[in-house]
Amino acid sequence: MFFGLCCGLLTVGCSGDDKAKPLPDLRPAVEVTKAERAIIGEVMRRNLVAINQISQAAGQGDIRSVALLAQQASKAPGPGALDRQLREKLPAGWRELGKGVDEGFRQISQAAQMGGSPLLINQGMASVTQACVACHTSYRIEVGSK
Ligand code: HEC
Repeated sequence: MFFGLCCGLLTVGCSGDDKAKPLPDLRPAVEVTKAERAIIGEVMRRNLVAINQISQAAGQGDIRSVALLAQQASKAPGPGALDRQLREKLPAGWRELGKGVDEGFRQISQAAQMGGSPLLINQGMASVTQACVACHTSYRIEVGSK
């Protein structure tokens, strides 16, 4: 009986796959120009590089570099600071999450300056990436005409 039910469910799952469609993207779109999207992309890639460099330095026990890199990353301007017109298009929730990234980097830098506890550095890294994940879950960008 249980076996039969499982097989039935599996069959339904398989036949559904034949007509699999991509899931709709339900995230609200922030409409920007092509040039503004390029600014956003650059900031994003820069943050990803910072996370990678900090992880590498932390893995090598190079706490001084962790402190420096994290401090630089926390002060680096976000898309809104780089472009005033773009700033006005970014929803308040977006800007909050951007601050979350800065705050996370500050947390890492502080942890590195106060003895470099790997646990605290890791917690800071989790704060940063939590903000990345939260925003990627909440918004998408769309290139429009204005
Ligand atoms: C406040 C919102 C927000 C935050 C915070 C954020 N992102 Fe993004 N990111 C986006 C959006 C929106 C896109 C475009 C994705 C889409 O439309 O599907 C994007 C795209 C990217 C891309 C692709 C860039 C390209 O080449 O076009 C990378 C890489 C990326 N993010 C990394 C990160 C990392 C790493 C963090 C955290 C340090 C982060 N992002 C934080 C909103 C955010």
